[in-house]
Amino acid sequence: MSRSLGSLEVGPQGLGCMGMSEFYGAGDERESIAVIHRALELGVTLIDTADMYGPHVNEELVGRALAGRSDYVLATKFGIVREEGGRSIRGDRAYVRSSVEGSLKRLGVDAIDLYYLHRVPADTPIEETVGAMAELVTEGKVRFLGLSEAGADTLRRAHAVHPITALQSEWSLWSRDIEAEIVPTARELGIGIVPYSPLGRGVLTGRFASSADFGKGDFRAANPRFSGENLDANLKMVAELKALADERGVTAGQLALAWVQHRGSDVVPIPGTKRIKYLEENVAAASLELSSDDLAAIEAAVPASAVAGDRYPDMSSIGR
Ligand SMILES: NC(=O)c1ccc[n+]([C@@H]2O[C@H](COP(=O)([O-])OP(=O)(O)OC[C@H]3O[C@@H](n4cnc5c(N)ncnc54)[C@H](OP(=O)(O)O)[C@@H]3O)[C@@H](O)[C@H]2O)c1
Repeated sequence: MSRSLGSLEVGPQGLGCMGMSEFYGAGDERESIAVIHRALELGVTLIDTADMYGPHVNEELVGRALAGRSDYVLATKFGIVREEGGRSIRGDRAYVRSSVEGSLKRLGVDAIDLYYLHRVPADTPIEETVGAMAELVTEGKVRFLGLSEAGADTLRRAHAVHPITALQSEWSLWSRDIEAEIVPTARELGIGIVPYSPLGRGVLTGRFASSADFGKGDFRAANPRFSGENLDANLKMVAELKALADERGVTAGQLALAWVQHRGSDVVPIPGTKRIKYLEENVAAASLELSSDDLAAIEAAVPASAVAGDRYPDMSSIGR
């Protein structure tokens, strides 16, 4: 059964490809490509990447996996510029135009199905950025537009320039800050929601016992929520979730994902994995039925208000 993001039809769950190239330890290209192919076989159509993953090599990997096929909906993102010693955010028209050319080339496609602004820049009016993205639609280089981690006001201003099809923001049992204002605004405007990191970057699966389990250079180790006492406190909640999952004969990750899948028919989470076993487990979670009592028990196990630590070391570009 498919779901709708605005007027774009996709499978009920997507696949995040970021971790195949970096952030969560080393990947294996052959296995990653096999994961993408298995996902398509299982009815996952929305394949998610970004120009900054790698940087660039994740788009190339995804391009190789999708070459010669047409059974996918391909999403990528631009706007985070990685540079020596840090990163900046750009959305000026010239940057939009040069970014899309790079992505089209690396992905090996004539058009990108869903093109997101990855973060909202502080110094460029959203009207300029979305205006330039709309030109790409007119030119046939892009089919639908999205924003990532945008605030409610930005969504309204952007949508007034050109219809926004999807908002991609972090949304999971332990990251629920978009629920108060941003989700209702997206729904009012008919914008679909694509929750990223729906497994809490893997922690909600119960797979990690301490920060020592993150390998060298793992992105999570440097984030407040995943380190020191914060992680210890958060893992106690994950243990509660795991106990609930054991009672039901499913995994903690499946409960966490099924909870996100139950947020609404306009919600298409994109769990990320580079392993077929995890992919299959995640896809199975999309058809788990949860009652209102189940949902309440899951929320009581991981109360978002009790989660310790921010999800990024610098939250200044989030919800802008
Ligand atoms: N717009 C944005 O700013 C933004 C930010 C972050 C991510 N994203 C997108 O969202 C996608 C998903 O988010 P994410 O990858 O950060 O987080 P996630 O989906 O919450 O978690 C990914 C982590 O969970 C592990 N995992 C996945 N399924 C599992 C299972 N069934 N059992 C045990 N472990 C499992 C993965 O392990 P393995 O790696 O070992 O498979 C990986 O370490 C990304 O791939 C990316 O495309 C977007």
